[in-house]
Amino acid sequence: MSALAVVKYGDPILRKKTAPVADAADVEPYIEDMLETMYEEAGMGLAANQVSLDMNFMVVDISHVEEDEYARTFINPEITGKEGTSEMEEGCLSVPDIRATIERAEKVRLLYLDDEGVEQESWFDGLMSRVIQHEVDHLNGILFTDYLTPAKRGLITKRLAEIAETGAPSTGIIL
Ligand code: NI
Repeated sequence: MSALAVVKYGDPILRKKTAPVADAADVEPYIEDMLETMYEEAGMGLAANQVSLDMNFMVVDISHVEEDEYARTFINPEITGKEGTSEMEEGCLSVPDIRATIERAEKVRLLYLDDEGVEQESWFDGLMSRVIQHEVDHLNGILFTDYLTPAKRGLITKRLAEIAETGAPSTGIIL
């Protein structure tokens, strides 16, 4: 296994809607490396385009927070239902040192293929719902900072430019 390079804000692949995965077997060669990359960077989820793969799949593992959870692979994930709202602070491996409280749905229903190519559809809530929504956004070219109000966005404009240029902002911020 080897860790992959996580692309940062400013890389055009983060703004592209990823290509559908035709066969679940196509993602198999990347799963272990993506998990290793995510663990090394202490992330809870990683979308394929964050490691420069134009493929519609993501890995999620929150087992360090919820003990009945495990490393999951979601292929061609699509949110098919939403319920309620919740606010939670988010960060992103592609937008380092910037954190912000974002409002999203409390629960989501997700249609996807699992790592064996079997179609699944179920509801997720809590932290899992949050991570799923963040990663599905990535796969559609959306970043959590897109949800900030113009005023809050103004506070990170310079930092985003610094990330695009050097990979990290000169100072971090929590919004
Ligand atoms: Ni992210």
